[in-house]
Amino acid sequence: MEDLLKIETDQAAEEILGEDAPSGLPYDIGRVRGLLEPLEESLKNTAPLSEWKKLYLGFDLGTTNTVLVALNELGEPVGAEMESSGSSVRDGVVVDYLAAINAMRKCLDRLTRRVGRELTGIGAAAYPPGISERTARVCANVVESLGFSCEGLYEEPTAASDALSMLDGAIVDIGGGTTGISILERGNVVYSADEPTGGTHMTLVLAGAQDIDFDKAEQMKRDIERHPHLVPMLRPTLEKMATIVKHHLKESGYYGKVPVLTVGGGAALPGAEEILSDTVGLPVYICPHPLMVTPAGIAARLWREKAPPVCG
Ligand SMILES: Nc1ncnc2c1ncn2[C@@H]1O[C@H](COP(=O)(O)OP(=O)(O)OP(=O)(O)O)[C@@H](O)[C@H]1O
Ligand SMILES: [Mg+2]
Repeated sequence: MEDLLKIETDQAAEEILGEDAPSGLPYDIGRVRGLLEPLEESLKNTAPLSEWKKLYLGFDLGTTNTVLVALNELGEPVGAEMESSGSSVRDGVVVDYLAAINAMRKCLDRLTRRVGRELTGIGAAAYPPGISERTARVCANVVESLGFSCEGLYEEPTAASDALSMLDGAIVDIGGGTTGISILERGNVVYSADEPTGGTHMTLVLAGAQDIDFDKAEQMKRDIERHPHLVPMLRPTLEKMATIVKHHLKESGYYGKVPVLTVGGGAALPGAEEILSDTVGLPVYICPHPLMVTPAGIAARLWREKAPPVCG
């Protein structure tokens, strides 16, 4: 049965990606190495990655993580900062405005210390698919309350596609609160859905199974060395996420016709790619450095839209 599934999966991959797909991957590996990798690395230290004259700032207000990404006027990464969102955001929507501002202010303070001078530049934010324009505006208000003009307000998957230079395909964002699926054609969202199963649900399952509190379970889940023991416990939640993805691929009519790529920290577990692929019945790729994709994409899109062309 497993072998049969594998053959079907490989055939589907070939049909979707074509024989001469550059690396067999649906995203630009250069972007992963040049953008996502250094940004994730910068979370572990306090040094700036590049010089800058003007910053292009991506503000990502997630259910679990509040993330700030800074690029310079050449689109090069300067640094990333991350703070826990606490209870300021629920299912991708800001529910405690002041707490959201405070979490992001901590990120800005840390970035200021990283670069050693006052931050000057412009910002952008993103919102999950399917929310009202008014609710989405709240993300821009947070940016403006922190003293930056918000010159971009993007749907999260379109930002993610910018980070990866992936214009066509299904982007599955497994964040803290939800599993969102968005199908892109030439960079435009043609179908999207968001359902409430994310990394937080895995943490809750772990807490229940181990009889420990949420914070301890969250710590355990992030401990890479423990992953082999945890995956069997987390398998049913991953299968639920995959069932959501499969349902929407079929519902949209894109099942088997587009590559499927997962971003967001919720599915960042070894073995998850296989579990997701088996349940969906198609190859599901997990992007390297998945936590960085949306925040980096917000800044990258802002830079692409607003930075003056480089002459000479
Ligand atoms: N090193 C890590 N740091 C932060 N979160 C991590 C880490 N490793 C795994 N995670 C998990 O990533 C998930 C959050 O991912 P992500 O930051 O993409 O979501 P979010 O943007 O906060 O939420 P959403 O997009 O649903 O609003 C959580 O379930 C968390 O447990
Ligand atoms: Mg997110």
